[in-house]
Amino acid sequence: MKWVVTILLEYEWRAGAFKLGTEREIMRTNPEANVASSPAKSAVLKDNQFRIDAVPAGSGLLVGDAAVFNVAGSFCATQAKCTHRGGPLNEGTLDGSTVTCPWHGSQFNVCSGAVLRGPATEPVKTYRVIVEGEIGRVEKEN
Ligand code: FES
Repeated sequence: MKWVVTILLEYEWRAGAFKLGTEREIMRTNPEANVASSPAKSAVLKDNQFRIDAVPAGSGLLVGDAAVFNVAGSFCATQAKCTHRGGPLNEGTLDGSTVTCPWHGSQFNVCSGAVLRGPATEPVKTYRVIVEGEIGRVEKEN
């Protein structure tokens, strides 16, 4: 019978001396290696996810092809492109729940999608936003 043994070795290079050590030793000598205690910060975000602290109240963020807005602590999401000529709504000015398109000034309610002022005449699509801990997620299937 053949035995295959896999040994994972961590090492540090200190003053020219090669040192082998266990994971605990590495973490004790290098506190930054302790990423396991904060999984949200080390997690790789998917295209539809965002860190909620990246969207302060009164601002917007492009998340995939959606624009996420922080309306007084609640998150609303719309399609990112304005229905007039495709302006980037995530770059628009947010006042309450109203975003103003930076290109020609159309206004939309970011929670309902309704047009509040032209030249746009078509509402924007809206999406549900789910927040779990420090991570938000745009749900396109309703
Ligand atoms: S592209 Fe938004 S108002 Fe024209």
